[in-house]
Amino acid sequence: MTIAVTGANSSVGLNLLSHLTNSEDSVVNAIVRSDHAAESLPSSPAVTPKIIPYENVEQLTRAIEGASCVVHLAGVLIESKMSTYKKANVDTAAAVVEAARRSGPERIVLVSVIGADPDSPNRYLRSKGDAERLVTGSGVPSTIIRTPILLGRNTAGAAGLMRAATQEKVRLLGGGRYKMRPLDLDDLSRAILAAIKTRREGVSIYELVGPEIIRYRELVTRIANMVGRTPSIGTMPVWIAKAGAAIRSRAKGGGVSPTVIDVIIANETVEINADVELGIELTPLSITLEKILSEFDEA
Ligand SMILES: NC(=O)c1ccc[n+]([C@@H]2O[C@H](COP(=O)([O-])OP(=O)(O)OC[C@H]3O[C@@H](n4cnc5c(N)ncnc54)[C@H](OP(=O)(O)O)[C@@H]3O)[C@@H](O)[C@H]2O)c1
Repeated sequence: MTIAVTGANSSVGLNLLSHLTNSEDSVVNAIVRSDHAAESLPSSPAVTPKIIPYENVEQLTRAIEGASCVVHLAGVLIESKMSTYKKANVDTAAAVVEAARRSGPERIVLVSVIGADPDSPNRYLRSKGDAERLVTGSGVPSTIIRTPILLGRNTAGAAGLMRAATQEKVRLLGGGRYKMRPLDLDDLSRAILAAIKTRREGVSIYELVGPEIIRYRELVTRIANMVGRTPSIGTMPVWIAKAGAAIRSRAKGGGVSPTVIDVIIANETVEINADVELGIELTPLSITLEKILSEFDEA
């Protein structure tokens, strides 16, 4: 079975590639947009890098042709001048949908985010909602998996957590009192594999979150304690963080903005967790944290 993966060099992409190439019979067309990105892909006979500018729908169509499924991962939370929400989240989804219509894979799998909504007042959540709407309206059978913050190798979530946990004094947004349901990156890859194999018609939307609800400050304390540290946790008032982020992101044309801060501190609650329906056994948070620590030690 051939699977096409966009954003194959992303943290989700690299993890998914390792799951796909460990599984029986998959070969992967790993779609990236630069030589530099292609270099980060695993060198394996099962992985064929495809360096493609996403605006070139013809090349994208050729990269997807023959694949039974296209997994669309390209996207950003933190904008830059070259990667706005429109370019990275919406335009790439539009290009993938068009390429899928032309090349006819059996399924599109889109990784989205908890809270994605085309009518959201938050620009990031709105762009992810727009991407979902494009996929939903594509006419191609599709699976959308909405996720919370992801924890695993190369994820921004794990990097931020380790940064906070290894300081003596740390100031967290709003004292880190917001609640999260972090998801293990391997669990997301297993969910994507389940979605690839499903034969369901139409569009299925799943919300998949981790097994534990935890405040960010407790998460920082927990992982710090695992390495024998007890950081002193202070508060960065959200309004001050947002005011600073507004000035800096406007001056730089990207970076952490008030939009990003609102996403970070949003409660990651869901009505029904999709683990049972997707047949995923969720990794306990303590195991996820041990994995992060061992990857941090390796680096
Ligand atoms: N990480 C999380 O906690 C989290 C949570 C919820 C949802 N998600 C979603 O899961 C997906 C993967 O996330 P990730 O954290 O693994 O991503 P990541 O490591 O930050 O990588 C981002 C990917 O998007 C590509 N990209 C960025 N701007 C682009 C543009 N303008 N055109 C085409 N490609 C572009 C990047 O390519 P280059 O390397 O060439 O820039 C890279 O392949 C994203 O759609 C993200 O929104 C992630």
